[in-house]
Amino acid sequence: MSFDTTAHNRQRFCFDGVESVWLFGYGSLIYKVDFPYLERRPAHIVGWVRRFWQGSHDHRGTPEAPGRVVTLIPQAGARCLGMGYRVAPAVFEQLDVREKNGYLRFQTPMTFADGTREQGLVYIATEDNAAFLGPADDEAIARQIASAHGPSGANADYLLNLAASLRQLGDDDPHVFTLAGLLPAV
Ligand code: SIN
Repeated sequence: MSFDTTAHNRQRFCFDGVESVWLFGYGSLIYKVDFPYLERRPAHIVGWVRRFWQGSHDHRGTPEAPGRVVTLIPQAGARCLGMGYRVAPAVFEQLDVREKNGYLRFQTPMTFADGTREQGLVYIATEDNAAFLGPADDEAIARQIASAHGPSGANADYLLNLAASLRQLGDDDPHVFTLAGLLPAV
């Protein structure tokens, strides 16, 4: 089952008079940059961990055989590394469609490598959305990812591209790296 969040997201923030907005990306938004941006800087947010707990019916799976993609789960003191993009507000029209399978925009502070901070937006698929799958053991998650394909391609490529981009950022994300390491064996 899925629930299209596009209309909901459009009502969440008023961008009137706003020239640019910082967006924090922690999943495919790190490596699949098919939107225009004004500035791009590695950044982190605090209090969240990245987890392959969101079902994908529209990009890396199908309604019959969903894939698994990342969302953020609250965890006190945790630090999630990703990429900050400063974008024109109009870019959210395109991003809301891309992230429509359960993701809502939330406000978040983000911190850049030089310690400066900005307020911005992040897409999170919360556990009450219809496509949320939740936790499972690592082998089961890796098996699901290894077998799923959708209009945006193989679910395995999503995982491997994310792992590669996190390595490039110098991140140590045991959840992502463990799943990527399991892929050849499942
Ligand atoms: C994100 O990348 O920030 C959201 C999740 C995704 O599209 O993979």
